[in-house]
Amino acid sequence: MDEVCIVSMLNTEFNLEGKAALVTGASSGLGAHFCKILAERGAKVVVTGRREDKIKNVASEIRKKGGEAISIPLDVTDNNSIKWCFDEAENAYGVVDIVSNNAGVAKPEKALSVDEESWDKVVDTNLKGVWLVSTEAARRMILKKVNGSIVNTSSIQGLRVAMDRASYAASKAAVIQLTKALALEWSEHKIRVNALCPGFFFTEMTENYFTNPKFSKYLSSLVPKRIGNMDEITAPFLLLASNAGSYVNGISIPVDGGHSLGKM
Ligand SMILES: NC(=O)c1ccc[n+]([C@@H]2O[C@H](COP(=O)([O-])OP(=O)(O)OC[C@H]3O[C@@H](n4cnc5c(N)ncnc54)[C@H](OP(=O)(O)O)[C@@H]3O)[C@@H](O)[C@H]2O)c1
Repeated sequence: MDEVCIVSMLNTEFNLEGKAALVTGASSGLGAHFCKILAERGAKVVVTGRREDKIKNVASEIRKKGGEAISIPLDVTDNNSIKWCFDEAENAYGVVDIVSNNAGVAKPEKALSVDEESWDKVVDTNLKGVWLVSTEAARRMILKKVNGSIVNTSSIQGLRVAMDRASYAASKAAVIQLTKALALEWSEHKIRVNALCPGFFFTEMTENYFTNPKFSKYLSSLVPKRIGNMDEITAPFLLLASNAGSYVNGISIPVDGGHSLGKM
């Protein structure tokens, strides 16, 4: 294949025109970034999250740049909220073809001192939310015979562990297994399910940690010696979300500059 053909093939495979995409946890950080790149590739984007002002801003930024987006409030721990959100999304853009299960919370806590309420909040958001949103999406895709792609945001803490993150690490490891289980069940319906395992990215979730003076010393001891730029998760995300990844199913890709190879 000559160079011109490869470029044109990549443009076609990564093209998301005519697709409807829904991103959870899109009011900030990685989720807001995913919405913007989905819209840049031509998808109609449903920006969701609990903070309505923030999701409205993300959708309006996309529209100002010529993209297509709406915002719909969504709490991934509340099944009624999920059903309502998918109804609204479907009314606006038709059946959702691409889902990014990205909502997440993290709370540094020792396993001996974490209380049940805090444990449940982390696991319900990071794990149960992925199951609830994925099954709602898949039911609708299967009913309308839509080939779909689901991209879950796990973490390198789903692969390795760090101090004081038992609930978070357990929830993110479970997302990796859930990704495989759903991919296995839904491949016959042509719904692919994959995950990303990000390393360190600067977002609302991590900013306090990253701005702690002790962090720069720790960072210099890691394999990549730096945090990731948002642009460095763009291509891995698009590979899984788009047809470019049509033969990629059930995997979880670390996007961490090699962080998970070394010290956590
Ligand atoms: N940043 C990193 O270095 C890193 C590394 C590995 C994995 N991750 C994962 O990446 C994902 C995005 O995190 P981020 O780093 O971008 O942090 P972030 O900016 O704090 O984003 C987290 C998002 O989750 C949403 N959220 C929390 N609880 C929710 C709920 N019950 N229902 C719906 N949305 C909810 C928040 O929106 P609302 O408050 O508006 O609902 C927010 O938009 C998370 O799953 C996180 O675990 C991040």
